[in-house]
Order: sequence, then structure tokens, then C-alpha cells
Amino acid sequence: RRKADMLIGNSVQIRDLIHSLDQLAPAQTPVLITGESGVGKELVARALHFTGPRAREPFIAINCGAVPETLFESELFGYEKGAFTGATSPHVGAFEAADKGTLFLDEIGEMPMAMQVKLLRVLETSAVRRVGSTESRKVDFRLVTATNRNLESEIKEGRFREDLFYRIHVYPVHVAPLRERPEDIPPIVQHYLSLIALREKRPPRRLTSSALEKLVAYAWPGNVRELVNLLERATLLAEDDKIDAEHVVLPDNAAMTGGTQLLPYRDAKQQFEAAYYSQLMRTADGNVSLAAKLAQKTRKEIYDALKRLGLEATAFRGLAASD
Ligand SMILES: Nc1ncnc2c1ncn2[C@@H]1O[C@H](COP(=O)(O)OP(=O)(O)O)[C@@H](O)[C@H]1O
Ligand SMILES: [Mg+2]
Repeated sequence: RRKADMLIGNSVQIRDLIHSLDQLAPAQTPVLITGESGVGKELVARALHFTGPRAREPFIAINCGAVPETLFESELFGYEKGAFTGATSPHVGAFEAADKGTLFLDEIGEMPMAMQVKLLRVLETSAVRRVGSTESRKVDFRLVTATNRNLESEIKEGRFREDLFYRIHVYPVHVAPLRERPEDIPPIVQHYLSLIALREKRPPRRLTSSALEKLVAYAWPGNVRELVNLLERATLLAEDDKIDAEHVVLPDNAAMTGGTQLLPYRDAKQQFEAAYYSQLMRTADGNVSLAAKLAQKTRKEIYDALKRLGLEATAFRGLAASD
């Protein structure tokens, strides 16, 4: 599998991300993935595993925010039969299950302090002992962690151990929020509309330009996850093959990019250009000559702008629909 098949997007941010994953996937170093909720952190963790040398070994994901504090140790370390009431058979914990593969600890910032100490110890010794056992077993997993918190401030607040931070933060990878890379919206939309169409065994629905304009202008606090959910809903609302602006239902208090918030000129220009060229290329069905005519620019100017924005002309083919 290729990373570019998993992580959709032509923005500079996504291309840089794929570039650093190319270097990180073959390595054994721990990776800490940061970014807001829904930006694709888990997808990045999977890309690291499934394009690396451990791809055929297990990928074990634990969401630290979802494990009750009392069950944490059993989840991670496992237990022997009879370790406590109810332990009627032995249980393999996540550390052992991930042996030779990758352990993905999602929302690591939610891990209780007492567990952080135990995790650090495992990382230092590469050995684990099941609850109720005296025997310690060697484990070899690659650690990938993710958080939407700022761990440096968590450390200052006394909620995260600094020594553990330095262990897991060997290679930080940041995934930018979707509103900072609106040019990724058209290819992501196209990708998911195709997936939905495959699932429903019908031709992909198309977006009208007003629908796409609405998507590009929205600030996406829930990032790609919110976009994917919205596309599912829009698909249900659109009766025929066309998704129009009325099918794009945004929250009542929807924050729009570039609305009340005043951006630095350079960012505002970049945002405008991304939206403009996305709409232009969609209208021109990815045809640069036609786009040049519509925008009254030369083909070279169009090519240069697309390159600067990280857009690919071909990504816009088949996305246009008449309003
Ligand atoms: N670049 C991307 N290309 C395709 N799908 C994406 C991308 N980024 C996120 N997604 C999808 O968005 C949803 C949320 O991603 P996820 O990795 O769970 O986010 P996070 O872990 O940061 O909350 C998933 O369905 C994921 O497949
Ligand atoms: Mg997640």
C-alpha cells in the first residue's frame, strides 16, 4: 500500500506529511502525532504501520480516553488466570498483542499519571509482566502515540510526565486542521463520493459549484471526520445525482473561514486563491486550457498557480456538475 492512497490531499501540508512518513515508516523510532480531532491522526498511524516493515504484524490501537482508569493496567499488561476475581482465563494485554508490530496509543494525553509511569518503564526495559504473574516477557513493538492536547502545557499543569514526553516525542508529526488547507476539500470530497457510490453500486454523485463553495468556505471545527459525515448526510438528502448547496447542511452557528476573523494578508490571499482555483478547475473539469480561458489568464499562469497551491489539475476531473 502507498501512503498517498490512504491520505488524500494535494496541499503542501499533506505532501510534506507524506514525505516525512516515507522517512519514518521504515524506522523504529517512536512517533508522536499531534493535531485537532478528526484531522486524520489515526489514519497517519495506520499509514506508518501498513507501509513499513511491520505491515504484516499486528497493529494494536488503544484509545486512552476510552479506557476506565481501573481497567488500564489489564488492558495494557494483560493478566494471568486467577489474578483477581473474575479472571477466569489469562488475558493478553496490548503490549504483548502488539509484539513485532505497532502499538498505537491514541489520546495519550488522557493516560492517568500512574499508568504513565508504568508505560515509561516498559519503554525503558522492553519487558512486561502480566497482572498476577512473576514472569516478565520481552516485547518488541513500535510505539506510535497521538494527542489533540498540547503536551507541553499538560506537563506545566502537572498532568503529563516530562520524562515520558521525551521518550514518545522523538519524532513529532503535526497534522494541520482542514481549514488551513481548503484545497484538500475537493479531492477528499471526490474520494468519499466515489466510496459512497461503490458501496451503493451507483455512479458517484456530483457537487454543484455552489455546494462546493459552501464546503470550502466553512471552517470545519470537526475537520475531515465532520466533512465525511456531512457527505453521507448530503447524499441522503440529494434525491438525484446532484448534491446542491441546499443539501450541504452546516450547523446553525457555522463558523466560516475569512468571515469575522481577520487573517494576515498572505493567509487570506492563499485562502482566496485555493477557493478560486478549486472552483475554476472544477468548472473546467480539470482542463487547464479551458480554465485559462475562463479566468482570462495564460495556461502557464494557471499551471504556476496550481503548483503553488499544491493542486493537481486532474483531481478536478469528473467533479463538476451544472447548477
Ligand atoms: N487526508 C485524508 N484522506 C482521507 N481520509 C481522511 C483524511 N484525513 C482524515 N480522514 C478520515 O477522516 C476520519 C477521521 O480521521 P481520524 O484519523 O480518525 O482522525 P483523528 O484520529 O485525528 O481524530 C476518518 O474516517 C479518516 O479516514
Ligand atoms: Mg482519533
